[in-house]
Amino acid sequence: MPVTVGVAVAILYFLSIFSFDHGCMATTTPSATERPTKTSAAGTSSATGTPTAAAVARKNPKRGLAFAAELPGDILNVNQTASVISWQYDWANLPPAYLATSNIKYIPMQWGSGSIDRFVDAVRAQGADTILAFNEPDFVNEANMDPTEAARLWMAYIEPLKQYGVRLGGPAVTAAGTGRPWLQQFFAACGECSIDFLPIHWYGVGTSGFYDYLWTIHNEYPRLPVWVTEYADTSDNETEVLSFMNETMRYMDELEWIERYAWFGLFRPKSGVHYNLLREDGGLNALGELYTGAKTVYTQYIKDTTFEGYKTVDGADIPNQPLVTSWPVSLTASGASPSRRVILGANAPISVISLVAIAIGSLMSGVYWKVW
Ligand SMILES: *[C@@H]1O[C@H](CO)[C@@H](O)[C@H](O)[C@H]1NC(C)=O
Ligand SMILES: *[C@@H]1O[C@H](CO)[C@@H](O)[C@H](O)[C@H]1NC(C)=O
Ligand SMILES: *[C@@H]1O[C@H](CO)[C@@H](O)[C@H](O)[C@H]1NC(C)=O
Repeated sequence: MPVTVGVAVAILYFLSIFSFDHGCMATTTPSATERPTKTSAAGTSSATGTPTAAAVARKNPKRGLAFAAELPGDILNVNQTASVISWQYDWANLPPAYLATSNIKYIPMQWGSGSIDRFVDAVRAQGADTILAFNEPDFVNEANMDPTEAARLWMAYIEPLKQYGVRLGGPAVTAAGTGRPWLQQFFAACGECSIDFLPIHWYGVGTSGFYDYLWTIHNEYPRLPVWVTEYADTSDNETEVLSFMNETMRYMDELEWIERYAWFGLFRPKSGVHYNLLREDGGLNALGELYTGAKTVYTQYIKDTTFEGYKTVDGADIPNQPLVTSWPVSLTASGASPSRRVILGANAPISVISLVAIAIGSLMSGVYWKVW
């Protein structure tokens, strides 16, 4: 699934860069005249616009977002103070502008072998302290990699991140019969690989199969914390899917060796699928509300030359909400120290300003010394 999603996200990202002046989401944000006046969230902001402590939901350090949406504005449902989501990924190595500015910690991924020689630079440029690598390498329709070749690529292009203190997530195999054998071959071929945690995927019906799989993985790799980076109940019965989500979230919140999890995923309805978090109009459905801990902020019907349909138009329920930039201390003990996320692109103007300031400073001191 993430192949098409990844491609769509990549296309949107490049469109946003090349057509709209570095990430300005002109295609998806309605003009000011189209925007209805937003009713302010009463009593939630102080005079300075800083949210009061009570209004800011405590983020769940484990719960993340698999951003599979095709419309960038869909992130606004999660970019709100009430949301408990603390991290996100979209199978790409760099966040598009709408994710980079969404207040949710972004984890870059090296999806397969493509452009792998540029991964270290991409990770360092955004100041990421954690990465994911190789999406379903055991599956022909996904990264589809030979385990020995994957181990070679790992040593050449992923392992070097270790020297910068980055935490490395291992290959995320499927829960199909090919997954665990692939992983065993990879580990056998990659004795020198420093893997800090093991991401896994699971799709199926009912909690017992899911829990069995979690424990099987844990028993095989007892020293590696587990990240469930894609999972869903594929039942047609929406009541069952909802209670599956409800139970598994609580289960994983309490299991110490589960470090993170991400439901698949944040996207609008698709035929035959009952695990999407969004409604047709872009708002959160019951699953989405349960998962994010938030209500839909706002959706609006929009018709212009490029788009007709519903969009989420404004997620800023409270201005200046704090960025979620670091892991809680308990979860960083074995890995990198938390660092502030640097939003790529946003640094450029700052460095230009600093350069100008330094230049003016030097000139001034030159002038000063001459006068003196
Ligand atoms: C869905 O599952 C619930 C709980 O298991 C059950 O009560 C209900 O009848 C099911 N609905 C359908 C349409 O099968
Ligand atoms: C989730 O589980 C809790 C505890 O059993 C229950 O109180 C709550 O109603 C459930 N929520 C949903 C949406 O199923
Ligand atoms: C997320 O919310 C913040 C604060 O409300 C806002 O400044 C930012 O623009 C939002 N991000 C996006 C992508 O809309």
